[in-house]
Amino acid sequence: MEVIIQPDAERAARLTARLIADRLRAKPDAVLGLATGRTMERVYAALAQMHREEGLDFSRCRTFNLDEYIGLPPEDPHSYRYYMNEHLFRRVNLRPENTHLPDGMAADLKAACRDYEGRIRACGGIDLQLLGIGASGHIGFNEPLSALRSRTRDKSLTPETVAQNAPLFGADAARMPRRALTMGVGTILEARSLILLATGAAKAEILAKAVEGPITAMISASAIQWHPDCRVIVDEAAAARLQGREYYRWIYENEPDWAPYRNASLES
Ligand code: F6R
Repeated sequence: MEVIIQPDAERAARLTARLIADRLRAKPDAVLGLATGRTMERVYAALAQMHREEGLDFSRCRTFNLDEYIGLPPEDPHSYRYYMNEHLFRRVNLRPENTHLPDGMAADLKAACRDYEGRIRACGGIDLQLLGIGASGHIGFNEPLSALRSRTRDKSLTPETVAQNAPLFGADAARMPRRALTMGVGTILEARSLILLATGAAKAEILAKAVEGPITAMISASAIQWHPDCRVIVDEAAAARLQGREYYRWIYENEPDWAPYRNASLES
């Protein structure tokens, strides 16, 4: 694992977008695993800008999102399908049939989860999985005690996650679903590489536990420590509780692999 600290949330998101773009340029039919949430809005804005200004091509790319609420149709503004359409899909040249989210409206949710895993396999697996981290320590909606080998399934959301996401529903907060379909921790760990992006002071404590604490099903994000190709990109505020932050800065300043990113402008 590498932890990369950027001065602020905008630059952390831009570096994340740059890494995704570079993967897509190297492999135009890459399979991307995507996340939703506030943290990712800047990443998708940066990718859309690269599409407009640099011709970043998504035409052969396939995408699989981590999760979807149970019971929200795609046209519901609070569904993750709607979020993805708004923030990324309709802003770039992704083919709609190449974009996948779990079907939270399926009559048979277990069959929908099996089907989702099958579709990921049929595409050859996920090349690069983007992750955020929730207040409960979740990746996707893998709430505390999610098995570290879990697969795509339905999960009840913790009160902490409901409190984290209810404000996004505004006046509809009471309508926020209490259950969701999510890729499992085991599904996520099968991606060929991972990027976890965390920004803001509210993430500092849980991020430090996930990155530097013991691997535990109580914090599903800690499972990324098992992954052989994992980058954690954070801003200064989210890095505040990391014990090893001076070492992580040294890595970024000295590792040759990071030279092109250190020197490139990540300004908008
Ligand atoms: C959403 C997802 C979640 C979020 C996490 C952080 O698809 O996978 O794990 O990444 O809850 O959400 P924000 O960015 O809103 O703090």
